[in-house]
Amino acid sequence: MPLLSKRLLNTDMPLINKVGQLVQQVESTTHQRVTSLVQGMVYFAPPESCAEVLQDTLKHEKFLHQYCEHDFGMRVLREALIQKVETENKLMDHSVIVTQGANQGFSSVVNALCDPDDECVIFSPYYFNHLMALQMANVKPLIIDTKIQNKYLPEVQDFEKLQQSIDSGDNRIKMIVVTTPCNPTGTVFPKDLLEYISDFCKKNSIWLVCDETYEYFIFDESVPHHTPVGSHIIHLYSFSKAYGLMGWRVGYIVYDRNLIELQTSLHKYQDTVPISSPVPSQIMALQALKEGKQWAMKQINTLVQNREYLWEALSPYPTSVRTTGAMYYFAQFPCFANRKDVTIDEEWQVIQWLIKKYRIAVLPGSAFGYNGYFRVSYANINAEQCEQAAKRLELALRDLSLPDLDLQKFD
Ligand SMILES: Cc1ncc(COP(=O)(O)O)c(C=O)c1O
Repeated sequence: MPLLSKRLLNTDMPLINKVGQLVQQVESTTHQRVTSLVQGMVYFAPPESCAEVLQDTLKHEKFLHQYCEHDFGMRVLREALIQKVETENKLMDHSVIVTQGANQGFSSVVNALCDPDDECVIFSPYYFNHLMALQMANVKPLIIDTKIQNKYLPEVQDFEKLQQSIDSGDNRIKMIVVTTPCNPTGTVFPKDLLEYISDFCKKNSIWLVCDETYEYFIFDESVPHHTPVGSHIIHLYSFSKAYGLMGWRVGYIVYDRNLIELQTSLHKYQDTVPISSPVPSQIMALQALKEGKQWAMKQINTLVQNREYLWEALSPYPTSVRTTGAMYYFAQFPCFANRKDVTIDEEWQVIQWLIKKYRIAVLPGSAFGYNGYFRVSYANINAEQCEQAAKRLELALRDLSLPDLDLQKFD
């Protein structure tokens, strides 16, 4: 067989599918439902008016079936988004490109900013698709581990070390990625820290890429979402979670409108890979935007109870952190407490055991660079299902704290 690209062969595997397959297998052999806390999805549907507007447009307009009027998205949607980022994010004089979700936005940005062997800083636990996009583009990830004690936020010392390496001329750092609120930890980056990172990037001529997919998912207003502003900052947003539009594939990139070369590079990628976000999806997104933040916040507030249920199960363990954003908790399996050498096989054994014995599925921490940990999503099920799942998780974690636990029994 002719050879395949090393870049893709060496890219991490998406673990969501692997867990999903096991869930299906266990459900079909045991005829029992497994509750999945795996995927970062919301349980709520998009605003009803979205489907109504789309149906109406389908009856009257042929343009829905054609290529979009511009690769960057429908003009009316871009205008509405510019207004949104001006009023909500204080991003004045910025331009918008509508993408097939924030993931495509991230790939576009990586390709526009980085050459092969350039370096990109990501903070671990990281969002796995960020790492995968870097691997695909042959960009070297510079992974900085964050600490539980610091609520998974990077520290000033991390940047001092980076500065030393930059000053010694010993690196090719092109960009730093910040995901706030964070997937998988739920950590919200405070304003001071974001401004510090922004200044660091500006001083060293490094791009700052802010993935703000979860900007509305804030559960404690003492740390509000903050959008740093500057011509060295590129912002990524998504309609997937806030408006329940995951399958419609709409997100957007926001950047300083004077950066014409950046825009041209992003345009080349846009024209070649997605061409545009699907036109019917953009109609849905435009209507969602008319319903606005208020509509989204009403849905997001229904997740408060789910957060509480899962926190009850997780709170007895010292590696569980009560973070305040996104829709996840990230914690260590108690059987791996104080161990730094947990293998992927050991971790997988626990994942399998949880699915088979307690009928709950979670995403392994190795997907985020933290072996022996796990992520739970509390947004993809309703409160009743979540209460049941949290009770089972509580029992499972108690079992996993027992010194004589034998996971093999459930193989
Ligand atoms: C941080 C982050 N960015 C981007 C995405 C993908 O969003 P989209 O559906 O808009 O591509 C996700 C989805 O889980 C995410 O957690």
